[in-house]
Amino acid sequence: MIEKIEEIYSSFKNELNALSKQAEVLNLKAAILGKKGSLSEILKGLKDASPEERQKIGPVSNEIKKSIERDIIDKLKAIEFDEINEKLEKNRTDFSLRDSLRELGLQGGGLHPTHQIQREIEDVFLSMGFEVLDGPHIEDEYHNFEALNIPETHPARDMQDTFWFADKKHLLRTHTSTIQIRGMKERKPPFAFVGPGKVFRSERTDTTHEMAFHQLEGMMVGEKINTGHLIYFMKTLLKAIFKKDMEVRLRPGYFPFVEPGFELDIRWKKPDPKDESARHSGWLELLPCGMVHPNVLKAGGVDPEKYSGFAFGLGLDRLVMVNYAIEDIRLLHRGDLRFNKQFASF
Ligand code: DAH
Repeated sequence: MIEKIEEIYSSFKNELNALSKQAEVLNLKAAILGKKGSLSEILKGLKDASPEERQKIGPVSNEIKKSIERDIIDKLKAIEFDEINEKLEKNRTDFSLRDSLRELGLQGGGLHPTHQIQREIEDVFLSMGFEVLDGPHIEDEYHNFEALNIPETHPARDMQDTFWFADKKHLLRTHTSTIQIRGMKERKPPFAFVGPGKVFRSERTDTTHEMAFHQLEGMMVGEKINTGHLIYFMKTLLKAIFKKDMEVRLRPGYFPFVEPGFELDIRWKKPDPKDESARHSGWLELLPCGMVHPNVLKAGGVDPEKYSGFAFGLGLDRLVMVNYAIEDIRLLHRGDLRFNKQFASF
């Protein structure tokens, strides 16, 4: 009887190997383990066997039954896997197709200049060990103001015209500094991150003002972080963007979430395309920054007695405008392909 059972198992294995459809596997299972299955039929004969035989056959047949069940599950999984792979292979998206599309004279896509600069800056900071964080566009009063040392009565709230929701508690974030609080709460010092994103102000638009624009926040917190670190990282950033060492100057600037706060200016020459020799140079206000205020560290769960940090908030659209000598910020947001295509990154 044992030989018979083993025979059933080995022919089951052979048959199973040859199958490629789940339904066939289930049929095979029924043909062996089902009520009228070959193994079940043999086991029915057990009742006529001697007690010694039964004692021998019982465990063997149980083992084999288990093996069959296991083999079936494995086979079903393997078939499913093959099917998924086959589907993936069939519906393959060829991401390199973009170039062939262009050869055919069809439209491909490209990155907006603001996002090109954003990615470039992210890469610079990633290479220096910073993380890149995200934050929500819809914020609460706490993260946008309170935790950043801007209490309700503080005049600084007037500096930012805000899109409030009807509940007067939520708003469209007016700056990416909100990411400082969220980032600090989730980590233990030392840490460093940047947080790029869209911000919103309820402002009348003109050549330098938009209702929605892009900032990139940055923060580094650790023991003995000082203004020297801030300047070093800002200069490294500017060098990566402008591809040369930039002359910078720090002026005092007021932001409630930093103390001291600075406006970092770069020495900027505005080229005059008509006259190579007539270039006017000057200082360009580019990068507000400072040493993180102790109250802000506290709000982020960081002990200001032990740790210090710097923060900065870079206007990405501003940077694009400076880089490409674009005179109206509204051009960046209009979605006009004739404009966008000039900067397409392909
Ligand atoms: N959040 C400020 C704004 O939108 C910019 C800013 C200033 C960010 C100083 C900073 C900073 O991190 O240190 O106007």
